[in-house]
Amino acid sequence: MRFLVTAGPTHEPIDPVRYIGNRSSGKMGYAIAEAAIAAGHDVVLISGPVNLDPQRGAKLIPVSTSDEMLDAVMRQTPNCDILVMCAAVADYKPARISNEKIKKGAASLSLELIQTRDVLASLPQQDRQYLVVGFAAETENVKANALKKLQDKNCDVIVANDARIAMESDENEVEIFFRGGENKKISRAPKKIIARELVKIFENVCEKGLTKKIT
Ligand code: CTP
Repeated sequence: MRFLVTAGPTHEPIDPVRYIGNRSSGKMGYAIAEAAIAAGHDVVLISGPVNLDPQRGAKLIPVSTSDEMLDAVMRQTPNCDILVMCAAVADYKPARISNEKIKKGAASLSLELIQTRDVLASLPQQDRQYLVVGFAAETENVKANALKKLQDKNCDVIVANDARIAMESDENEVEIFFRGGENKKISRAPKKIIARELVKIFENVCEKGLTKKIT
């Protein structure tokens, strides 16, 4: 199968030396890419700025901003069977990017932020030929928030994790919710172990979905 995996944060520039970012390390997405390669799949990895070695065996597409992430995903989805949106795409970006470094002046400074485009919500909503897996990073009401994202973002599967456990860590603990209403927990373990389980689950759902389409 052809996996398209996104990983890491996005950086939204403020001026030539500053950006808005988040604490995503990219480790979960890279672990999924690694596990998919080990299972014999083709992998394209769209990666935000991370401090990780390139994943051997994957085609790496480096991006920086949410706009670049969205464009790369749109270009690659026609050639994938499973899209795994593991990236922590920024929700807001500066309304204006200053061409010059903003100098220290007034005692306080306000930045106007505008919403970024949502990658998952921008995908075609019907007749998709690939499985869409979203991630939900939460700090409270994990299940309710994840189920809302599953529906609002029209995902086939959503992987919920507690952002306080997952961010920058080598470990994770996830609960997976499927479009059909089922769910499955994977208890706390190294991300590499969780990634292997996730890849098996995605393969399974994808195979079932493809069989459904053919028959
Ligand atoms: N996502 C996306 N485009 C964005 C923001 C998020 O495609 N501009 C995707 C993420 O890659 C993830 C899913 O949406 O697969 C959920 O991301 P998350 O950060 O948990 O939720 P948000 O939609 O950003 O909502 P909130 O921050 O309010 O929880």
